[in-house]
Amino acid sequence: MLDNIGISLLGAGNVGSSVMNTLLTDSKRFQVLIGTNLKLQKVLVRDLNKYRKIFKYSSFTDNFSDILNDSKTQIVVEMLGGEDPAYIYIEELLKSGKHVVTANKDVMAKYGSKLITLAEQNKVSIRYEASVGGGIPIIGPLSRDLLANEIYSISAIINGTTNYMLTVMNKEKISYDEALLRAQNLGYAEPNPYNDVEGIDVSYKLAILCGLAFHADVNPENIYCEGISGLDLKDLEYANNLGFTIKLLARAELKEGKIVCIICPSLISNNAPLSKVDGVLNAIQLKGSLVGEVVFEGPGAGALPTSSAILGDVIDIAKNIKYALTDPANNLLNKIEVSDISSFNSRYYIRLNVSDESGVLAAISGIMSKYSISIASVIQTEADLKLQTAQLILTTHEAKREKIDLAMEEISKEGKVVKICNLLPIVD
Ligand code: NAP
Ligand code: HSE
Repeated sequence: MLDNIGISLLGAGNVGSSVMNTLLTDSKRFQVLIGTNLKLQKVLVRDLNKYRKIFKYSSFTDNFSDILNDSKTQIVVEMLGGEDPAYIYIEELLKSGKHVVTANKDVMAKYGSKLITLAEQNKVSIRYEASVGGGIPIIGPLSRDLLANEIYSISAIINGTTNYMLTVMNKEKISYDEALLRAQNLGYAEPNPYNDVEGIDVSYKLAILCGLAFHADVNPENIYCEGISGLDLKDLEYANNLGFTIKLLARAELKEGKIVCIICPSLISNNAPLSKVDGVLNAIQLKGSLVGEVVFEGPGAGALPTSSAILGDVIDIAKNIKYALTDPANNLLNKIEVSDISSFNSRYYIRLNVSDESGVLAAISGIMSKYSISIASVIQTEADLKLQTAQLILTTHEAKREKIDLAMEEISKEGKVVKICNLLPIVD
């Protein structure tokens, strides 16, 4: 009979400190769930003095080997963030026979397949529920409960920082920079928020979801990805006037044997459930052959929700250790290519800055018609008398992205068009 199961942590920042506090305060409840005591062994940080001042807990270390070589540590939770040194540490831990729980989407998106195989070879587990959607259970359901389905498509809001930013920009009319600062202060953003605002964090998460949904090894670098830094408060306002809300939407679907993935700010109809997913909430909508449509919604970032996902994985592994069970093999199987977005069909919102003169509309509609793109609506805002320009907002009927891109290229060369300010898909 095991007296204790030893657990060590890599990182005690936003997420790590919450996991650490919960392990210390809820130990009795966890003992009942597991049937054995879960004992916190060591916590890795860089700056020992900083953490010793904040926490009463004394077993901080700045030396990874102290955890790798600790014979009492059976489970290690990685909450450092980024690829380096997290990936190498996880690899070494699995090789040394320790179970790993990670919140790291960068690592799981790029090396998940390799690490899952390594865990299997070493008869240990690697779990990553917190890597997508913060506190929302999604990795578990896709790995187990939805396995009988052929998944047709994924539509998801999976970055809490940008969803929070877009919500407050929209509702409180605050600037992009102020919204980002607030998200950082709330602990939602990555240590370097570039990955959040440019959609890279979403590409990692979508790659992980595609891996599970389509049983494929998807390289995040092959996913078309645009972030929110090119958005203007004007786009949010014009979208509202048209009956839409702008969200950073990740979409993936199986089409002609390939996966088409697109991540970009998108206009979502105010009647669609995803348009109402506000603030730090995330939502993942899946279409499956048996279940039909399901939506998983909840807090997508933040210390407590993320520690809920992490500790769920920890408790499950601890129970496996206690009852000498192993995780079933759950690695990726198919080699399915990610295709470019040229065949992606959608309606579009186009905002142009144009000269306020005659013939502009005719020139633009001529180019659209040349590429068989049907215009659904046109709005011209008040002209800027000083600059002699006006904003033109077009929406189109469904068109192939390939045609839209060709039309945009030609429109950009049209002398009466000052600038193509934005091109965003519309989801009705
Ligand atoms: P964070 O606040 O920046 O914390 C990172 C922690 O790791 C700090 O304690 C830091 O110690 C330590 N650390 C970093 N590099 C280290 C190294 N080379 N050696 C030793 N210690 C090191 O980050 P976080 O927000 O907690 O995020 C952690 C992970 O959770 C990331 O993978 C993130 O993507 C993921 N995640 C975060 C959220 C969220 O809402 N924040 C949600 C889901 C998933 P020092 O302070 O001494 O540098
Ligand atoms: N920075 C990430 C987000 C944390 O804002 O969604 C959760 O992965």
